[in-house]
Amino acid sequence: MTSEVKNNLPTLLVVEDEKNTRDGLRRYFDGKFDIYLAPDVTTAMNVLESQPVDVLLTDLRLMGGTEGLDLLVRAQSISHPPVCVLMTAYGSEKVAVQAMKRGAYDYITKPLDLEKLDVVLTRALHSRKVETENLQLREELDKKFGLEKLIGNAPAMVEIYDRIRQVAPTNATVLIEGESGTGKELVAQSLHMLSPRKSARFVAVHCAALSPQLLESELFGHEKGAFTGAIERRIGRFEEATHGTIFLDEIGEIDAVTQVKLLRALGEQTIQRVGSNQNLKVDVRVVAATNKNLEAQVREGKFREDLFYRLDVVPIHLPPLRERREDIPLFINAFVQEYSRQNHKRISGLSMDAQEALQRYDWPGNVRELRAAIEHAVALCRGERIGVRDLPARILGQSNTLLSPAQSGVPSAQSNLNLETLEKSFIQQALHLTDRNVTEAAKLLGISRRTLHRKIKAYQI
Ligand SMILES: Nc1ncnc2c1ncn2[C@@H]1O[C@H](COP(=O)(O)OP(=O)(O)OP(=O)(O)O)[C@@H](O)[C@H]1O
Ligand SMILES: [Mg+2]
Repeated sequence: MTSEVKNNLPTLLVVEDEKNTRDGLRRYFDGKFDIYLAPDVTTAMNVLESQPVDVLLTDLRLMGGTEGLDLLVRAQSISHPPVCVLMTAYGSEKVAVQAMKRGAYDYITKPLDLEKLDVVLTRALHSRKVETENLQLREELDKKFGLEKLIGNAPAMVEIYDRIRQVAPTNATVLIEGESGTGKELVAQSLHMLSPRKSARFVAVHCAALSPQLLESELFGHEKGAFTGAIERRIGRFEEATHGTIFLDEIGEIDAVTQVKLLRALGEQTIQRVGSNQNLKVDVRVVAATNKNLEAQVREGKFREDLFYRLDVVPIHLPPLRERREDIPLFINAFVQEYSRQNHKRISGLSMDAQEALQRYDWPGNVRELRAAIEHAVALCRGERIGVRDLPARILGQSNTLLSPAQSGVPSAQSNLNLETLEKSFIQQALHLTDRNVTEAAKLLGISRRTLHRKIKAYQI
């Protein structure tokens, strides 16, 4: 086994027990490949395991046996395996076909026709290139898949994407905080999808939905007869998530006893099924979420401080929708498309006043509420555009206080007014509604305080 390093040449590993053939091959392919020679399977495997090899050219019969087949199988089990070409004695093509069924790319019969072999190896190399490119493409897609479901370009969201990308490949416990409907579960899923654990399971547990006893057995499982009703042994969700991710939703709701058990699961990576005192090792990544302020709960003595710190290794805070109003149009677009497709409707968008009503509404239920509002509107919409009357009454109820022309004397958006006049009136109304509190008014309008100040000056309000 010898070779000088020739940069950028594809690597070829020749496995051949006859020295003359080996040397002949080396002479012929020198300059085209970076060549490694091996007389037997052991040497060949050493080469394969110590560096990437593009093409493996092996004799099927090494030392009179059929070790070439063994080598083929073993070579394919390494990560990013080489493309394999077999050399076989004239008359033993049957074995060669068998080998191709086991993943060999092609075979060539001996005595070797070097020109023909050259063609075969070039083709093999090309196929490997295509395969590598496909692999890279798939990896790219996977990466995208992890975040592609998340909509939003607001600076706070962009920061969150960065953080997700950073921590996803690690095993660090992540605590996602945010109001209801802000996308906590979506974030947890992307953390899983972007991690090396993605081929194992993502197991979500809604901690608030279960009584303390049931929650404990849900998480850690139980032995037969552990409590009344435990008629069978049951595997818990932690065990189900082995090598994957467990998502503990509404973690703030778990009782004191389960908090202790969870602390142990996180600290020692071991669990005990209910009714057993055997420690089971678990390899699970924990992502937790809460719509409560967990730190405040710690201060109030409702949540263990030690558990809080175990969970809060990497915090991700999801802002409420009203604090990233610039993303509302993106959500509207995506949801209109989704629901028109589902309902076989051809809806191109929203009327300006419907859009404005949605832009100004406070969204206490965040993205989930916005999604539901669009679903509602798409279902009711008769034309190509969603109008104000298609929106849920609650949204109109709130935004009308700001929009109603009758109340404020502001002409409706349909009349022929330019945007500036409209904007000025909205600012005036917002200031009026908030007793000239600029901070509050800016919030109401969904713009920053600085922008509002600038506009007040510009419009001489
Ligand atoms: N950034 C986002 N991009 C796309 N869809 C989102 C986003 N945030 C939330 N959603 C959508 O809003 C809905 C609620 O999201 P999700 O269930 O992740 O919220 P949550 O924070 O877990 O809410 P809860 O606290 O009520 O469980 C889902 O339909 C989800 O697809
Ligand atoms: Mg949720």
